[in-house]
Amino acid sequence: MATYTSERVTAVQHWSERLFSFRTTRSTALRFESGQFVMVGLDLGEGQKVVRAYSIASPPYEDELEFYSIIAPNGPLTTRLQHVKPGESVLVSTKPTGTLVLRDLRPGRRLFLLATGTGIAPFAALIRDLDVYERFEQVVLVRGGRTCKDLAYGDAVLGSLRSSPYLGELAQRQLLDYPSVTRESFARVGRITRFLATGAICTDLGIAPLDPRSDRIMICGNMRMLAQARELLDALGFEMSPGIGVPGDYVIERAFVEAVGGRTPEKARTRQLVGVS
Ligand SMILES: Cc1cc2nc3c(=O)[nH]c(=O)nc-3n(C[C@H](O)[C@H](O)[C@H](O)COP(=O)(O)OP(=O)(O)OC[C@H]3O[C@@H](n4cnc5c(N)ncnc54)[C@H](O)[C@@H]3O)c2cc1C
Ligand SMILES: NC(=O)c1ccc[n+]([C@@H]2O[C@H](COP(=O)([O-])OP(=O)(O)OC[C@H]3O[C@@H](n4cnc5c(N)ncnc54)[C@H](OP(=O)(O)O)[C@@H]3O)[C@@H](O)[C@H]2O)c1
Repeated sequence: MATYTSERVTAVQHWSERLFSFRTTRSTALRFESGQFVMVGLDLGEGQKVVRAYSIASPPYEDELEFYSIIAPNGPLTTRLQHVKPGESVLVSTKPTGTLVLRDLRPGRRLFLLATGTGIAPFAALIRDLDVYERFEQVVLVRGGRTCKDLAYGDAVLGSLRSSPYLGELAQRQLLDYPSVTRESFARVGRITRFLATGAICTDLGIAPLDPRSDRIMICGNMRMLAQARELLDALGFEMSPGIGVPGDYVIERAFVEAVGGRTPEKARTRQLVGVS
């Protein structure tokens, strides 16, 4: 049974009618690695709470936690959470976990972070983490949204990162951004899986093609995107990390696949984990 602390919301920002981010206080006991997720939710009273898995979007060195959220139509949590205001409380589980972690990637020269929609959340933590720039010479953030508004949170994270006195210079030198949208006109229109399949990511950025000997990859998005990206990477000779503690050429969030796709015996446990109680 997960245990929770009650954290105070310190800021809320709405990016569109379906996306918002919020910050909360952080228990001094909470330790996590960039890329991990926790359960976040609301106390409904009378012993009831509604909790869902959320990637921590802020880096481990910050005093507060940041989360980036969808507003799912009729979603038990987000139809309520979208109205949260500074000063109110949310529940945050005490044991972060997850497989989108640097330690499960083999050593490499370049790191590609492939995200659709709110899948940018774990990468918002990673691109603000010094470890990433120490471990990789180059970091390429490939992010896709339906519309330009879907890119606004990522734009803001990148903007403040590039002007940050702490990591700004490293990010300017080592971090490349590859944004795209699918449902309106923009400088780059199309799904990120197409750009992966055609090799456009590297040709457009003027960098060498993907190479399993030196490139490492993290993927976060919906189930079909994960499956298609995996197929493309496997065909190029990349090997996925099979689980926590066993490094590979690329990682995905296995808890997400198990919760949504139900491929493993852990399915039932994870379904419980993300449910209403
Ligand atoms: C490991 C893990 C990490 C996650 N991290 C995040 C995160 O950082 N930010 C976030 O917004 N969500 C994240 N999710 C999804 C999140 O747990 C909830 O599903 C989401 O907050 C909606 O909750 P709900 O109760 O309102 O609706 P649910 O009943 O949980 O979902 C209703 C429907 O909405 C759609 N949906 C749910 N989440 C999303 C999403 N993020 N983007 C697009 N469609 C969605 C799905 O079709 C789903 O069936 C994560 C899920 C997992 C398993
Ligand atoms: N740690 C984690 O595991 C974690 C963290 C955060 C979020 N998530 C998950 O990430 C997912 C985000 O949803 P979403 O990306 O579907 O959001 P979305 O807002 O519905 O779509 C975002 C973009 O992804 C594109 N897309 C849809 N299917 C695709 C596919 N098969 N291949 C490539 N691109 C595709 C969409 O293109 P179209 O316009 O053409 O549809 C759109 O441009 C959710 O399922 C959420 O739960 C997981």
